[in-house]
Amino acid sequence: MRRKLVAGNWKMNGSLAANAQLLAGIKAEFADGACDVAVCVPYPYLAQCQQLLDGTSIRLGAQDLSLHESGAYTGEVSATMLMEFGCRYVIVGHSERRAYFGETDDLISRKTRRAIDSGLIPIVCVGETLSQRGAGQTEVVVGNQIEAVLSLLSADDLSRIVVAYEPVWAIGTGKTATPDMAQEVHAMLRRRLREKNAEAASNVRILYGGSMKPDNAAELMAMSDIDGGLIGGAALKATDFLSIVCKG
Ligand code: PGA
Repeated sequence: MRRKLVAGNWKMNGSLAANAQLLAGIKAEFADGACDVAVCVPYPYLAQCQQLLDGTSIRLGAQDLSLHESGAYTGEVSATMLMEFGCRYVIVGHSERRAYFGETDDLISRKTRRAIDSGLIPIVCVGETLSQRGAGQTEVVVGNQIEAVLSLLSADDLSRIVVAYEPVWAIGTGKTATPDMAQEVHAMLRRRLREKNAEAASNVRILYGGSMKPDNAAELMAMSDIDGGLIGGAALKATDFLSIVCKG
């Protein structure tokens, strides 16, 4: 039985005051139990959020990591640094990084490898654009994205990753994949994972992301291969985030 994971992706949002208010709101109503919960916050706020989440079961994550361990890489942040601030998770290959920062399947695969080697759990994002879906290429595109990552992983590594299916056309748009549409891609992803390691594949959590909200979270997470959510906009409001967590 896979335990659901609801992870907030704050993206480039927040401030010291706003984060304190948001986490206070989440902590006040958060009941340990049904599912795992994490927040992936901007780098400068890791220390603040680590402190505010201390003693809770809400885990901390980052939104990216460097391919490199240390050295002359201006602007980069290493996995070891993230670990020092208590990160358990790191988002890798978000479509915004693919689209705006030129991240390729190859780079994303190597970042995934780096995260695992450093003891972080990568949340590896895959997803098709609207035109790719319109052209009937969803399976090819998403399949190629996951295959690139799997090519650098061993069978055992599958127990150390989370996958997130995020159709690009659903991110931040208010448009959500229907539960059946999402389930179809999640099932395909699990088939690909099974080819690598049948046993471990049944334990890999595959999250859905893309305008998941309180009013659609339950029906999405009821699907057999949807094991939680990667939440953008709705993660910035304590009541919305908690409401999604409750449905996990
Ligand atoms: P959204 O973002 O929930 O605002 O669509 C999800 C994501 O980008 O991870």
